[in-house]
Amino acid sequence: MKVLPTLAGLSLAVSSLALPTSDHVVHERRTVTHSRWEKTGPVNETEPIMVRIGLTQSNLDRAYQYLMDVSDSVSPNYGKFWTPEQVASTFAPSNETVAAVRKWLNGAGVENSRLSQTKHSGWIAFNATAQEVEGLFHTQYYHYHDRTSGVKTIATHEYHIPQSIQQHIDYIKPGVLLPPASKKRSKRRPRMQKAPQPSVNATSLATCDQAITPACIAALYQIPPSDSTVSANNSLGVFEEGSMYSQEDLNLFFGNFTPWIPQGTKPQPAFIDGGTAPAPVEDAGTESNLDFQLAYPIVYPQTLTLYQTDDKFYGASTIVDGLFNTFLDALDGSYCTYCAYGECGDDPKYDPTYPDKFSGGYTGQLMCGTYKPTNVISISYGGQEYDLPAYYQQRQCNEFLKLGLQGTSVLIASGDDGVAGPLGDDNTNGCLGDGSVFSPTWPNSCPYITNVGATKVYPGQTVADPESAVYDPPGHPYFSEFASGGGFSNIYGIPDYQAAAVAEYFKSHNPSYPYYEGQSNMGKNGGVYNRLGRGYPDIAANGDNIAMFSEGQNFLEGGTSASTPIFASIINRIVEKRLAAGKGALGFLNPVLYRNAHALNDITNGTNPGCGSDGFSTAPGWDPVTGLGTPNFPKLLDVFMNLP
Ligand SMILES: *[C@@H]1O[C@H](CO)[C@@H](O)[C@H](O)[C@H]1NC(C)=O
Ligand SMILES: *[C@@H]1O[C@H](CO)[C@@H](O)[C@H](O)[C@H]1NC(C)=O
Ligand SMILES: *[C@@H]1O[C@H](CO)[C@@H](O)[C@H](O)[C@H]1NC(C)=O
Ligand SMILES: *[C@@H]1O[C@H](CO)[C@@H](O)[C@H](O)[C@H]1NC(C)=O
Ligand SMILES: *[C@@H]1O[C@H](CO)[C@@H](O)[C@H](O)[C@H]1NC(C)=O
Ligand SMILES: *[C@@H]1O[C@H](CO)[C@@H](O)[C@H](O)[C@H]1NC(C)=O
Repeated sequence: MKVLPTLAGLSLAVSSLALPTSDHVVHERRTVTHSRWEKTGPVNETEPIMVRIGLTQSNLDRAYQYLMDVSDSVSPNYGKFWTPEQVASTFAPSNETVAAVRKWLNGAGVENSRLSQTKHSGWIAFNATAQEVEGLFHTQYYHYHDRTSGVKTIATHEYHIPQSIQQHIDYIKPGVLLPPASKKRSKRRPRMQKAPQPSVNATSLATCDQAITPACIAALYQIPPSDSTVSANNSLGVFEEGSMYSQEDLNLFFGNFTPWIPQGTKPQPAFIDGGTAPAPVEDAGTESNLDFQLAYPIVYPQTLTLYQTDDKFYGASTIVDGLFNTFLDALDGSYCTYCAYGECGDDPKYDPTYPDKFSGGYTGQLMCGTYKPTNVISISYGGQEYDLPAYYQQRQCNEFLKLGLQGTSVLIASGDDGVAGPLGDDNTNGCLGDGSVFSPTWPNSCPYITNVGATKVYPGQTVADPESAVYDPPGHPYFSEFASGGGFSNIYGIPDYQAAAVAEYFKSHNPSYPYYEGQSNMGKNGGVYNRLGRGYPDIAANGDNIAMFSEGQNFLEGGTSASTPIFASIINRIVEKRLAAGKGALGFLNPVLYRNAHALNDITNGTNPGCGSDGFSTAPGWDPVTGLGTPNFPKLLDVFMNLP
């Protein structure tokens, strides 16, 4: 909480306004106001204000411990995942909190009939005049005007609440927050590249250094053929947004590379908020085609579930900068109204708003808790930490934690720009500060997801040789430079499960660059990365020269976009084996992976350049380029089958 506890001096200073009484304390105070914001005058006391009081969530401080309790193999409760109801009620504000805040409001003249609150929701809302609200919070509201965007809003410098209920209130809106600057560019890009495909023999391993086929992937990671009978309850979830597969492309791919997969094989639809698929072949999306063409050869006859998210206006990616919240809403109904870090529900500034006001858009209500999450979810999309406010990311990150608590493994592509962001993000070179500071990716830095970096079979190497971290300079073979996304978060600290691995990297393979400690010191003393941040990626898989079909053409694709469905498919195969043995799904993978690095192929050659540097170097053990390494199917299977 952002609370400044004491008020003695302040109460005196403003006592002539008769504002804070003895039991009121400052709850939030704004210390810096960006020069974009012009204060245009006080709010008229008759103006209506809709107030939202974000209630303190219960047990958030224990969330990490809860997650470890069910995901760390040394815990007696390993694999004992929670029901959605258990998750919602554990984190919902306590009855005591709700009662205390209602009692205070009632006593101050806001009757219960004016208060609205939904089940499990983290906030209480009501309408009042400015005069009433100012009296309640002992404050003065002002109109603000953003000189750059023209956006208008109201806010206070600080507000007060009785000390006795302070522990029950996270924040109040409108409050001290002024929205951050909006950005023009879309950050919601799929992570992939594109180059011409040489003709290859689908069953030969002789050309895996030129084009990666399903046979190459199976050989690299020792993936055996699938069992012929499979569980009906273990469909691999694949997230897509704005990119749609085409059946023609899948059929072309199956015909050329995996003739054992029947023509017409297609994912089970789990369409979210107007998302739809497939597309006609001429409108096919490469990302979606790529994901399915990598996953099917590994998981078939297991099925795939397509979480096609958002209608065509929002899916087209230029309208909003946010991502994943509408998807997460559809998997967990309580997330739709969940309050944390100063946000309740989706953020209309960053997330789609439904029903969609654009003509032809999705006219239904926002989907909340519509689909039960699959055991494993593959996500090949994302942006940079820099793109969105920290509070947006932290609230979302908690939701990934909740998916883990419920037994879902989430794997996300670590980014394709090495230690940088895409060109033009913040600086022209995609870096932070003066252009030398590395730019961590979002949502990857969230400690509750499993990040997948990319490896490559370099020319002249075979599938029997160790792979290397991918680095393709601009123009070769793809249009843009491509390096495995990796580095250290500016938002999140180092989680316990990776602390030893990160410490060992710094001890034995200390990068030569200056660093800073904590986001507030970014760039200090020439530092280019946060020495105290969560390191990523966690693992890696091949992500270069992938043979695929899209828009009826064959191409080579590259990107951590490819690595992610490969690793996710392998995990799904392992879950399948566990189900057959009467065991459960795996949930959050990292604690077990970091304890069992021997089950991964350590990658020790290559770097992830960016920001005018060579980036970080791979090294024996974990590194911020390829994580713990690539999958070794038999060893991973062994590790996970030996767990309860
Ligand atoms: C506040 O608004 C009311 C109604 O629009 C108006 O009559 C009044 O003059 C306003 N007061 C001030 C101080 O602007
Ligand atoms: C909180 O209140 C709800 C409904 O009023 C009730 O069902 C629930 O048992 C209460 N929980 C606790 C922990 O008292
Ligand atoms: C406040 O008033 C607005 C406009 O009439 C309405 O849409 C909203 O639901 C009201 N909110 C509450 C909490 O009563
Ligand atoms: C493809 O490779 C396999 C295995 O190396 C070989 O048996 C087959 O003859 C090749 N097919 C063609 C058309 O070259
Ligand atoms: C799938 O799960 C449901 C409940 O989650 C269970 O009733 C059903 O038997 C399962 N089906 C299979 C094939 O395991
Ligand atoms: C090691 O990685 C570099 C790129 O960083 C690459 O040029 C080289 O071919 C790789 N070596 C092997 C043996 O794969």
